[in-house]
Amino acid sequence: MTAVGIDAIEIWTGKLQLNLPETFAPAKGEDPGKYTKGLGLETSSFPDAYEDIVTMGANAAKRLMDRKGLDPQDIGRIDVATESAFDNSKPVSTYIAGCLEQVYDGDFHHANKGERKFACVAGTQSIDDAYNWIKAGRNRGRSALVIATDTALYARGDPGEATQGAGAVAMLISENPSVVELSTEQGYGSADETDFLKPNQQFPSVDGKRSMQVYLARMREALTDFESVAWDAHPDDFAYVPFHTPFPGMVRKAGLLGYRHMIRDTEIEDALEGRIGRQPREEDFDDWESYEEAIRAYMDDLKETEEYQSWYADIIEPTLDISRRVGNWYTGSVHIARASALRHAAANDVDLAGQKLLVASYGSGAQAEIHAETVADGWKEEIEAADLEDQLQRRYDLSYDEYEQVHDRHNHDMDVELEEFTHPDGEFVFTGWGRMSERK
Ligand code: CAA
Repeated sequence: MTAVGIDAIEIWTGKLQLNLPETFAPAKGEDPGKYTKGLGLETSSFPDAYEDIVTMGANAAKRLMDRKGLDPQDIGRIDVATESAFDNSKPVSTYIAGCLEQVYDGDFHHANKGERKFACVAGTQSIDDAYNWIKAGRNRGRSALVIATDTALYARGDPGEATQGAGAVAMLISENPSVVELSTEQGYGSADETDFLKPNQQFPSVDGKRSMQVYLARMREALTDFESVAWDAHPDDFAYVPFHTPFPGMVRKAGLLGYRHMIRDTEIEDALEGRIGRQPREEDFDDWESYEEAIRAYMDDLKETEEYQSWYADIIEPTLDISRRVGNWYTGSVHIARASALRHAAANDVDLAGQKLLVASYGSGAQAEIHAETVADGWKEEIEAADLEDQLQRRYDLSYDEYEQVHDRHNHDMDVELEEFTHPDGEFVFTGWGRMSERK
């Protein structure tokens, strides 16, 4: 059976950054530790005046196509995942294809284009669509271009404001992939939820605390579902576990949940029994509340164990490096967590080929998807070819006043005049409504 998976990844960060402990915290009268230690964030990324979800997505895709030596004939579909779309009719992929057609010989008239929406999980869903399309034999030898692109902004004063971010991840889904091979081993947790909504409004209405509970509840369901169709996951099965990362502090909670789930009925639970007891089992309790209380107490103890802390440091912490520096990218977020882990492995000479990742995606509204993937032979070369570090370092550091202007101008609010803080450097730029983004 032909392997199908991610053959290449390119990342485009918004070209501005806001330093949370040094710039945001003093302006908000908050202790910097709330952001760095509590939420786990250092800086957020923002788009410059000439950037939006189209330009960031097109720039990431162009970089990917150039590096892989592709032209439009090699691509059979372009799927964009976003929760920041500005057009209720045309998918963002048509705008991105329009950009790319300005610079390549040939066009994408033959390519199927779509837009996936299910909050942050849509990026992974687009990969699943591409996988199914190739596995069904409908790709005629072509690859799929999946682009997750978002400007994740919240109203000023909303607790979510500290977790903002903007950027795009372009991924090539192909036969015989170089980065990771996808599998049919998947599990879902899905329910109709209203903790995070954007009904025809620019910024989301969020019940932040509830959104965290919903994330964990759906993730727990997805893990259980995964185990019902794949195998009983054990912490040692996976080299890394990239989670959807709205902010690293959320992954601290998700990682603990995942670890507790995976050690159940294993030698790890046996070894911990003398120190913290066995995990509470639902069937031993008369009501859900007492069970939940017992679970919380067990998790508090588990968190302090050396076993959990060293697993977290080795398996989860490396997935958070990029996220700490860019904030939430919504649909791209779990994919930067995977990229972050691969970068960490490459920098530390880890031999990853053939090892498994457990990828835990999540979208508000709400759905979690857990799937396993196997790292492919060419992973190191691919991840080293993406020039992310330069991009991160080149970002313009906003003052708080400048940040407020950028925020006001978000979503093409043309009433707010905004200077460019950086200069385009041979890239697609937004040139105004009703006009195509151009290359400058
Ligand atoms: N030093 C160290 N830690 C500190 C601190 C200090 N000085 N001050 C506070 N903290 C800690 C707190 O104890 C807390 O940690 P715990 O959760 O482990 O207790 C953490 O910092 C955050 O502090 P608060 O809970 O007081 O923060 P908040 O209420 O102002 O905001 C939030 C948190 C509600 C999650 C907010 O960021 C938010 O609304 N975010 C948007 C929604 C979101 O991202 N939800 C996540 C799940 S939904 C999802 O994943 C989809 C998506 O992408 C949006």
